[in-house]
Amino acid sequence: MERVLLSEAADKVGQKIMVKGWVHARRDHGKLIFADLRDRSGLLQVVFWGGGDEKLFKQAENLRSEFVVAITGKIQKRQPNQVNPDLPTGTVELAAETLEVLNESEVPVFEIDKAAETKEETRMAYRYLDMRSPRMQKNLQMRHKIIKLIRDELDKQGFWEVETPNLTKGTPEGAREYIVPARLSPGKFFVLPQSPQQFKQLLMVGGIEKYFQIARCFRDEDTRGDRQAEFTQLDLEMSFVERDDVMAHSEALLIEIVEKLYPEKKISTKPFPRMTHKEVIDKYGTDRPDLRKNKDDPNELAFLWVIDFPFFEKTDKKEHHGAVGEWTFTHNPFSAPIPEHQDLLMKKEKIGEIITTQYDVVLNGFEIAGGSIRNHKPEALRKVLEIIGHKPERIERDFGHMLKALSYGAPPHGGIAWGLERLIMVLQNEPSIREVMAFPKTGDSRDLLMNAPNDVDEKQLKDLGIKITE
Ligand code: AMO
Repeated sequence: MERVLLSEAADKVGQKIMVKGWVHARRDHGKLIFADLRDRSGLLQVVFWGGGDEKLFKQAENLRSEFVVAITGKIQKRQPNQVNPDLPTGTVELAAETLEVLNESEVPVFEIDKAAETKEETRMAYRYLDMRSPRMQKNLQMRHKIIKLIRDELDKQGFWEVETPNLTKGTPEGAREYIVPARLSPGKFFVLPQSPQQFKQLLMVGGIEKYFQIARCFRDEDTRGDRQAEFTQLDLEMSFVERDDVMAHSEALLIEIVEKLYPEKKISTKPFPRMTHKEVIDKYGTDRPDLRKNKDDPNELAFLWVIDFPFFEKTDKKEHHGAVGEWTFTHNPFSAPIPEHQDLLMKKEKIGEIITTQYDVVLNGFEIAGGSIRNHKPEALRKVLEIIGHKPERIERDFGHMLKALSYGAPPHGGIAWGLERLIMVLQNEPSIREVMAFPKTGDSRDLLMNAPNDVDEKQLKDLGIKITE
C-alpha cells in the first residue's frame, strides 16, 4: 500500500490507508490507546482498541515517543466531543489495523513539543531532534522556498548561477580569514572566501554579464545573533549597470519574495525610502535604524536603503590594511566612487570627502544586504590601494591578478550580496539567524553536533608540516 501523508488523512474518511512517521505522544485510556503520529506534514491521531486484535494492542502498549512506525487502518470521523479544532486533522482519526515498528528510539533528551523551552546548546547538540519541531521545519521549508523563488526569478531574468571556489586566496571584507594548509605546496595556505567578491568581478571580465550564486561565505569573527562564521549570501553581479539599476533590481526581488511568500506581511514604505549615510547617522545615530512604526507588529517590514557612505575613514585599530591613523576603506576596496567623485579618487584629493557608490539594505534594524558599483579600470583600483597605504609589492602580491584582469577590457559592473539568513530570520520572526540554519554554530563558533573543531591525527599534521605549539 502506498504511504499517505498525515495532512491528507482528513479527506480520506472511510478509506483504508497506510501512514508512516514518528510517535509524537501516547495516551492510554484502559481499553483504548491513543497515539499521535507525526510526519513532515503534520499530526494524526491513531486509535488502538483493546476489544479487537490483542496482539496489535500489545504492540501499541510498547510504543514510546519517537519510535518510527508504519500503520495501516481506516480513517474514521472522531466522536463530536473528541474533535480537536486546533489540529488540521482534528476531525478524524485512524483506527489502526496493523502496526510495524520501523525503528525504536532512545528516550529523547527533550520532548519535540518542548524544543522551544530547551537550552539552545542542547538543541544544537541534538539538532536532528530539534529539527522535528514545527518551528524548525517551517523555517527550513521557508528558507527553501525563498531560495527557490530567487533561483527561478533570476533564471527568468537571464542570470546564470556560477559556483566559485572555496579554496582560494583572501579577499578583504574586513573580517579575519579561515586558512587551510595546502599539503602539495608545503608552508602555503588557501584562504576560505569571505565572499565571492573577486570571482564575481572576474566573471564580469569573463563576459558572463549576469551572475548569481547562493554562496557560502566564511568569516572568522565572534558570532552573535545575526552573525555566523559560515553563512550564505545571495551574491549577484551585473555588467553595464549603474547604482540605480542594482538597487531597483534587488528592491523588486525583495518585494516579490514578500508578496508571494509572506502575503500577511506589510512593507511600510514602497518604493523603499533612501537615506544618505550622513542623514541616518545625524537622525538615528546608527546606520541601520529600525524604521518600523509598531515594533510589536510581527508583520511590519520596514526596508531602507542607505547610500552615499564615505569611501575612506581613518583607522583607529591596527588591522591588516593600513596602520593607525591611516586611511582605510569603509566597505570594500573594489567599490567605485560616485561618478562626480571619480576625479578626486584619481587625483587622491579630499580623500575624506569621497563618497562611494555603496548601498546597503536595512530591514527592521538589520543590515540585510550591501553592494556597490566597482572600479572597472585598473588605475582606479590602484588608486584605492595606494590611498589605503599599500606598497607596490603588496598591491602586486594581493591584487595583481585583479589589476591584470581589469586591464583586459573589463566592462563597467556592479552588484550586491544579501545576507540570506538575516533576511529569512526577519521574515520568519526569529530572534537569531541560528534558527534559520540547519546546523548553526555556537557563539564561540563550535559545532556541538559534530564536535568540531577538533584534534586531527598526528600523521595528518606531519604530512602538512604543521607543529602545534603551546
Ligand atoms: P558584506 O560584507 O556587506 O558585502 O556582506 C553582505 C551581507 O552579508 C551578510 N553578512 C553576514 N550574515 C551572517 N553572518 C555574517 N558573519 C555576515 N557577514 C555579512 C549581511 C551583509 O549585508 N562582497 C560584498 C557584497 C558586494 O559588494 O556585492 C560583501 O560581502 O547581511
